[in-house]
Amino acid sequence: MIQINNLRKSYLVNGTKVEAVKGISFNVEKGQIFGVIGKSGAGKSSLLRCLNLLEIPDEGEILIEGRDITKLNPKELRNIRKEVSMIFQHFNLLKNSTVFKNVAFPLEIAGYKKDEIDSRVLELIDLVGLKDKKDEYPANLSGGQKQRVAIARALANNPKILLCDEATSALDPLTTKQILDLILELNRKLGLTVVLITHEMDVVDRICTHVAVMEKGEIVEIGIKDDVFKNPKSKTLKQFLQSERGSKVIVLEKKKDKAI
Ligand SMILES: Nc1ncnc2c1ncn2[C@@H]1O[C@H](COP(=O)(O)OP(=O)(O)OP(=O)(O)O)[C@@H](O)[C@H]1O
Ligand SMILES: [Mg+2]
Repeated sequence: MIQINNLRKSYLVNGTKVEAVKGISFNVEKGQIFGVIGKSGAGKSSLLRCLNLLEIPDEGEILIEGRDITKLNPKELRNIRKEVSMIFQHFNLLKNSTVFKNVAFPLEIAGYKKDEIDSRVLELIDLVGLKDKKDEYPANLSGGQKQRVAIARALANNPKILLCDEATSALDPLTTKQILDLILELNRKLGLTVVLITHEMDVVDRICTHVAVMEKGEIVEIGIKDDVFKNPKSKTLKQFLQSERGSKVIVLEKKKDKAI
């Protein structure tokens, strides 16, 4: 479904070249929920943003269903952006538009007729569980509800791939779980392929089928999530798993305290 070959991305910062992604290659198959984890600055967002050409790679190929998207003309690129949708940590909603209008926006851009837009938007709002909020403005919604709007908007054009950049990092644990459950449901119901980046191990553990660990612009381990987590090799993953276990022990001890 997605084949990434020797992808490189660098930035010029005050005349100095910062290499964010250093020649990465991997594949994501249809229906997978593929997690990319790594510390801050590892290059996760740069990698993800190349997958829908929000960032233009310096080098390498990104094949989506066999087509190299780095070689498309502007019209073909607009079409590929419908197939590869994205959600963000801070939701990026239009704050002066209602839930309905936010979800309708990509359909208006795509040139659908008003009655088609109306029925599709209602279907999407229902799908993410926000039927009673369609006329609210983003400011009146909780973080989880805002992310649901962003997900509905991202699904408007029937994408095949959903990219999630720290989509639950601004949410509390319970809301995180609800949004992850929704992503999982969409993955199963719609056959949506998901690539998500996060620094929360729990997110990967809960929903990812596969995982790649990034360090300094490179993938240092990759594979089926259960296999990789059972036998961590990189320093990053070992540290992540250790701190995760540590925080679980603390939670358990807190619970024990309460019981006493
Ligand atoms: N637009 C940009 N301009 C200049 N440098 C950038 C830009 N975006 C990212 N970088 C640099 O590229 C490197 C990788 O950044 P990136 O945002 O991809 O990491 P990340 O793994 O997503 O980090 P985080 O977990 O903090 O979001 C960093 O050194 C960062 O400073
Ligand atoms: Mg990032």
